This record gives sequence, C-alpha cells and structure tokens, in this order.
Amino acid sequence: MKIFLDTANVDEIKEALEWGLVDGVTTNPTLISKTGRGFEEVVREILELVEGPVSLEVVSTDAEGMIREARRLSELGENVVVKIPMTEEGIKAVKVLEGEGIATNVTLIFSPTQALLAAKAGASYVSPFVGRIDDISWDGLTIVREIREIFSNYEYQTQIIVASVRHPKHVLESAKMGAHICTMPFKVLKQLFKHPLTDVGLKRFLEDWEKVPQKPF
Ligand code: G3P
Repeated sequence: MKIFLDTANVDEIKEALEWGLVDGVTTNPTLISKTGRGFEEVVREILELVEGPVSLEVVSTDAEGMIREARRLSELGENVVVKIPMTEEGIKAVKVLEGEGIATNVTLIFSPTQALLAAKAGASYVSPFVGRIDDISWDGLTIVREIREIFSNYEYQTQIIVASVRHPKHVLESAKMGAHICTMPFKVLKQLFKHPLTDVGLKRFLEDWEKVPQKPF
C-alpha cells in the first residue's frame, strides 16, 4: 500500500521524506490555510520536495471554473493531481481533464456509488473520507471495502485513496482490504512506528549491552 501524507506543512513533509516512506502528498484548502502561508508559495515548496503525486484542490464550483483552475494547477508540476469535489459539475470537469491528460482525484466521497460515478468519468483517484463517515456514526471502512469490490468487478483503473484518516486502525484496515493508497496526517504516520514493547525491548538490550566486558567498537 502506498503511503501519502495528508498535510501542507513543509516541515512535516521534510521529516517524513527522510524516513523514505512517503509516496505522495494530499492537500486541501483547510490544510493550506492551517499553514498561514500563501497558496503558491507553499505549494511550490511541496512540489520541489515531493517526487510522487501531489493533490491540489480547486475551489471553483462550476465545471468551467474547475477546468480553468486545474489547467493552471497542472502547470505547477508534472506530478500535480487535481482534486475535484464530488458534484455534478465536478464529474463533468473530471471527464474533460482526464481527456487532456490531467490526473484528477475526486474528493469528498462518502458513498460507494459516488466512487462508481467518479470511476466511470475516468478519475485517476477517488478519496473516500473514512473519519468523517465514522463521525456521523457510520462505518467509513465499509465504504472503502464496497468501493474496492465495485472497482474490481469492473476492472476500473481508478485508485482508492483512503482519506480523513484519524488513527492507526484506519491504516491497518485499509492495508488489509487492499486499498491502493492511504493518506494520513503526520501524527498518524508517527504513531505507526510506535509499540511500547519496542521501547522496553530496546531499553533492556542497551542496559544488557553495558554489562558486556569487551565490546567490538
Ligand atoms: O484531505 C482530505 C481529508 O483527509 C480530510 O481529513 O480529518 O479533515 O476529515 P479530515
């Protein structure tokens, strides 16, 4: 499973890239606004750092406006993927943009049939928001499982990006069900490293090593 970082924070991206585990980055208007920086400044910095796909979201709500924005965004880098909201206008835009060779990521997916429409329109990616579905007492991961089943029934090439990830269990279940990509906040990626028995085990090894009379270096 590919791991994307769901952030626009350049320091987080730099640190995670050092681990060699980040395959791409996803942003949205909220994440950009959290940086307190200008859109173009922050996005250009991200694109310099990241080789894999970087999702940048349009803010227009009509197809024409989305297409115009997407064309401009795609000029910022070859790895730009344009995030388009799951609306009738959005789906129209996806069809046009994919026809022009501009990769799209249909965002704000909350049902398997929304994902089906996006795949039929030729979207490169769909982003089901699992955490926000859980927030309304439904099961976000069930939606992902259903999308996976539909896509494999018809051999759609659209890749699933599990988004709105809140904790390591979302990552575990995404990997178990074979989601192509899981995009997660930096905090969740850090949590994946952790296990208390790893810390206890390492501490004990280092203490015992101190008792060895002759050490090689
Ligand atoms: O990038 C879209 C998605 O991951 C948003 O997550 O936590 O705002 O629901 P969240």
